[in-house]
Amino acid sequence: MEDWSDCLDVAVQIARRAGQVVQSAVKQEKQVSSKSTPTDLVTEADHQVEELIISTLREKYPSHRFIGEESSAAGVKCELTDAPTWIIDPIDGTCNFVHSFPMVAVSIGFAVRKELELGVIYHCFDGTLYTARKGHGAFCNGVRLQVSKEKDVSKALILTEIGAKRDPATLDIFLGNMKKMLSAPTHGVRIIGSSTLALCHIASGAAEAYYQYGLHCWDIAAAAVIIREAGGCVIDTTGGPLDLMSRRVVAAGTREIADYVVKQLQPINYGRDDTDPDGLA
Ligand code: IPD
Ligand code: CA
Ligand code: CA
Ligand code: CA
Repeated sequence: MEDWSDCLDVAVQIARRAGQVVQSAVKQEKQVSSKSTPTDLVTEADHQVEELIISTLREKYPSHRFIGEESSAAGVKCELTDAPTWIIDPIDGTCNFVHSFPMVAVSIGFAVRKELELGVIYHCFDGTLYTARKGHGAFCNGVRLQVSKEKDVSKALILTEIGAKRDPATLDIFLGNMKKMLSAPTHGVRIIGSSTLALCHIASGAAEAYYQYGLHCWDIAAAAVIIREAGGCVIDTTGGPLDLMSRRVVAAGTREIADYVVKQLQPINYGRDDTDPDGLA
C-alpha cells in the first residue's frame, strides 16, 4: 500500500516555490482581468503559478491527473476519477492578491480513488506552511495542529466567505445565514477573503466553524485533509458526507458545532464543479 509520503515532500517543495513566485508578484504591477463575473478576478500570476505547479508535478508523476482552477476555467474537464489526482488552487485569494491584502495562499491537494490523501497550503505573505497526510496528522510549520474542542456555539468564532454570486436574492440568503450565526449569539463572524486560509484557521483551532456555498473543489481539497487530520469534521451543508464537487461545505472543530451550523443554513444553489466548473447555475 502506497503511503504517498514522497508526494507530500514534493508538494511541499512546489508549494514553497510557487508561494515565492506569488510573493514577488505581489510587489509588481498586476494584469487583472475577470472571468465569470466582474468580481471573479484573475491575473497573469494565477496562470503562471498553476503552470509551474502542474508542469513540475507532471514531470515527476507523468501518470497522475490534474485539476487546477485556471485549467478548468480554460476548458480542461474538472474530473475526479480513481486515478491519483492533484487538485490545485494556484492563488487562493486572488482579490486579496490584487489588493496586496495579506491573506493569499497556494493550495495543493491530492486524492487517490477519490479519497483525499494529502493537503499542503502555503500562506504566501508570512510563509506559514500547513501540511497533512491521511492517518499521519496535520502540521503548521512542523507543529502538530489540533482543532478547537468547543461544543458550545455561544462561545464560537465562525468563518465564512462570499461566493461569486452577488445578485440581490443570493445576497439576501447570504446575509440571512450570517444574521443567524451572529444572533445565536456566537462570539462573531469573520470573512478573510481566502477559503483555504479560513479553513486552516479551523484546523489550528483559531475558529470553531466555517461554512460556504460557492467554493470549488480546489478551495477545499487540501484543507479538508488538514482539518480532518487535526481532529475536525468536514461535511456537506446538509449534514451528509462532503461531496468535493458540490460547491458547499461546513467544517468545524466538533460535530456539535457543525450540526448547529447545518441546522441554521438556508442553501444557495451553485452548479457542480464537475459539470459547470466556472458557471454560476
Ligand atoms: C476564492 C476565495 C474567496 C472565496 C471564493 C473563492 P480564488 O478563491 O477563496 O475567499 O469567497 O469562493 O473562489 O478565486 O481567490 O482562488
Ligand atoms: Ca479565482
Ligand atoms: Ca480559491
Ligand atoms: Ca485561485
